[in-house]
Amino acid sequence: MASDGKAERPWWKKTVVYQIYPRSFCDSNGDGIGDLDGIISKLDYLQDLGVETIWFSPIFKSPQKDFGYDISDYRDIAPEYGTMQTCEKLIKEMHERDMKFVLDMVLNHTSDQHPWFIESRSSKDNPKRDWYIWRDGKKPLGKAPPTNWNAVTTGNGWHYDPATDQWYWSQFLDIQPDLNYRNPDVKAEMFDTVRFWLKKGVDGFRLDMISSIYEDAEFRDNPRSWRLLPSDKEMAVLFQKPVYTLDHPDTLTFMKELRSVLDEFSPPRFMVGEVSGPLPILKKYLGDKADGLNLVFIFQALRVGLEAEDIKELVSDVEKTFREPYDPVWVFSNHDRMRRISRLGGSLEKAKLNMAFQLTARGVPFIYYGEEIGMEQHRLPVKRSLDVVALRFIKKFGSGLVQLVNNIARSVAKESINRDDCRTPMQWNAGENAGFCLPAATPWLPITPSYKERNVDLESKDLNSILSCYKRFLKARQESPALNAGSFEFLDKGNAPDTLLMYARRAATDDGVKEAIVMLNFSDEKVKVINTLDEVKVIVSTRAESEPIQGNRILLNPWEGIVITK
Ligand code: NOJ
Repeated sequence: MASDGKAERPWWKKTVVYQIYPRSFCDSNGDGIGDLDGIISKLDYLQDLGVETIWFSPIFKSPQKDFGYDISDYRDIAPEYGTMQTCEKLIKEMHERDMKFVLDMVLNHTSDQHPWFIESRSSKDNPKRDWYIWRDGKKPLGKAPPTNWNAVTTGNGWHYDPATDQWYWSQFLDIQPDLNYRNPDVKAEMFDTVRFWLKKGVDGFRLDMISSIYEDAEFRDNPRSWRLLPSDKEMAVLFQKPVYTLDHPDTLTFMKELRSVLDEFSPPRFMVGEVSGPLPILKKYLGDKADGLNLVFIFQALRVGLEAEDIKELVSDVEKTFREPYDPVWVFSNHDRMRRISRLGGSLEKAKLNMAFQLTARGVPFIYYGEEIGMEQHRLPVKRSLDVVALRFIKKFGSGLVQLVNNIARSVAKESINRDDCRTPMQWNAGENAGFCLPAATPWLPITPSYKERNVDLESKDLNSILSCYKRFLKARQESPALNAGSFEFLDKGNAPDTLLMYARRAATDDGVKEAIVMLNFSDEKVKVINTLDEVKVIVSTRAESEPIQGNRILLNPWEGIVITK
């Protein structure tokens, strides 16, 4: 409670999150794989950039078939990344810099190499049998999957195990069997695991595939649908509606239970959930009294067009659905999907404007490593893919066909079947291996070719670089209560063209109401707006050297974004 009796806004509501894919960030020991010591060596860079919270894709012990999203020990660190001591050091070093540590927690499934699953599959009467979801096949022969349930990736998610003549359920791949949360021991163990990490000082969790925690207890078939491809507006995909496998009411209750585990700890911690679907469904995860997850990703933003009208439509829907005390998440890239800049044709000016929107909208921004230097997707050949999803498709259809489909997917749908493309090593400098690992080492994935122009070293020295632009906006956001805590309202832009977007952010402070006005020009043309405000000044612009205020006019360059205040 603050001294005036008002509840204080928890820190995470105004934070900026930066996602690190640990394998790709910085290799300190020359094995070509990023590691925790490498990350520690870059904390000053991150602090200087102006991000506060770092989300680490999984760092637990794992066979690394899905690069950590297949965990074999929730209370130990993958040896290729470091040890528990290194992890504790990382947490400490971050806290000393007032930074926050967010762990990626995969509660839905384990690796099939986890000792629990090895035991579970060993016999029907093993004590761990019921820790996973086992069923007989469909009668009379028992040789068909128990239900028609599709997994989120590749068709039916039941996998036959000849050892016990039963099938196990997996919402992702066969190597990631789902845990059975209807068994109280499983729930107790996983909640304790969460506490284990909270006691180590972690400040939050990103929750993997959290909408799949429970399935129908009666194992009813999912209803059929005509829809083949996924969409942000409907849940149906692959010709079925996943009513019995996703967003189960028990899963929503689970969010509240998990929240009470987090609320046992102080200072406040937070959780952000990986959930896909229409906005009203996403909202349910936050609880009707804001007593569920603190945040949920809004993946609709990943694919939104960089046009004033498209952004306006999305923001209007988001603002309607996620009113205070709820906060939206603004995310444009991650380790599964095509990097935003590559969707924007590689244009740095467009990427800067996209960032200007992301860092000035109401909500919590999530930046994917390398996004701040304009790092692009690599177009890697699928036949050399290391991504388990691409490998599954190759196994099923052959690399020739998958390559062909992927070429179309990349150009038309702006997606890649091969997730390696968006996971290439961070580009630190123009030297050998982009400074990610020693020149003599072989990076685990090839470096994206544009690293000679797009890297931290070069861009730090250039005021006009995208990196410098990120720094300016992050600083402005940090210093302005209107930007980091204010309300949101679209403004009438008078006679200005439709390619201009204008909105106000306003926050009540001890010093009165503070206002910031954001103007974004989504076009190749210059835009003029009549300035009706006295003594207006520019807080920040995507252009280092522009002078938008010109007497009674405000002049925006093509694709320029500015924030002004009185
Ligand atoms: C979603 C993660 O983002 C993805 O990378 C992973 O492969 C699956 N969940 C399985 O855990």
